Amino acid sequence: MPGSMIHAEGLTKQFGTLTAVDQVSLDLAEGEVFGFLGPNGAGKTTTVRMLTSLISKTSGVAVVADCEIGKEADELKLRARIGLLPENVGLYENSTAYENLEYFGQLYGLDGATLRRNIERLLRTMDLWEKKDVPVATFSKGMKQKVAIARALVHDPILVFLDEPTANLDPEAAKMVREILLALKKEKRTIFLNTHNLDEAQRICDRVGILRTRLLTVGSPRELETRMSGNRTVVKLERASEAIAGAVEAQIGSGRVEVSGDQLLVDVDDPDRQNPVIAAAIVAAGGRIRQLTQLSTSLEEVYLKLIHEEALPS
Ligand SMILES: Nc1ncnc2c1ncn2[C@@H]1O[C@H](COP(=O)(O)OP(=O)(O)OP(=O)(O)O)[C@@H](O)[C@H]1O
Ligand SMILES: [Mg+2]
Repeated sequence: MPGSMIHAEGLTKQFGTLTAVDQVSLDLAEGEVFGFLGPNGAGKTTTVRMLTSLISKTSGVAVVADCEIGKEADELKLRARIGLLPENVGLYENSTAYENLEYFGQLYGLDGATLRRNIERLLRTMDLWEKKDVPVATFSKGMKQKVAIARALVHDPILVFLDEPTANLDPEAAKMVREILLALKKEKRTIFLNTHNLDEAQRICDRVGILRTRLLTVGSPRELETRMSGNRTVVKLERASEAIAGAVEAQIGSGRVEVSGDQLLVDVDDPDRQNPVIAAAIVAAGGRIRQLTQLSTSLEEVYLKLIHEEALPS
């Protein structure tokens, strides 16, 4: 499929009698930032390890960056195209930050000049250039994490898997990592992000999937919130009236508007499309808008509800 970076169908992993990942089907387009959410033990890391060909799948199909997972002939091509920040970072502790990146880059067969340029750019971005010649054994957790992120990117992969990249980072470093991810997105690279940080997912992901062995749902953060709660627009007016409510209903359907004090509460399906219509109708009816806000379920509420109930109307 053109423009497809990941296509998985019925991807399943069993460890003995334990089904860690059950029938996951998923498509990622080129340039997408995808957030993979789910409780501890949900199978996120296992899924990433299958998609990066670190462990074999039990069944199902996965095509990643045009390489078929499990097909030996595609293995090298896959390695060159994808980068991985694993859950357990695993650097060469006695080597310096620079050497760690150099070693990896050489494995990918980068030429010397490109490699040096990439290493310098990445270490500078990570604020580690000054420490490039220090053994990573002396680094803090967060600094090691940054070296590992740089390592995942050193060969300019088009698809990057990051398993909880900001888990050990201070708020400023976490923000820096998010900015790096958004910069990668701008370069049309595709990002698969395992995270427990819902706020992070909401801020940088185009779509998120919620996994609990099975994939419970996939959608943009906004879609999931809306799907879960229905959506309400609250318009605070200088003075609300039945006449103004009627004017709004005439535009977006009867039975959707409620007057409450100086507010109109409006049921909407598609706030991005309907809110401007609502605002225009109010103004045309002589209403004066003080505030227009969206009431919706937060991604956190959606997440908690889903992983406890599993049932989401689609
Ligand atoms: N090598 C293995 N052998 C046996 N069981 C495994 C192995 N790897 C993972 N599991 C099991 O598979 C399930 C999924 O684990 P996984 O690490 O994929 O979860 P996760 O979603 O990444 O969790 P976390 O958020 O804690 O990182 C767990 O029950 C785990 O114990
Ligand atoms: Mg994990």
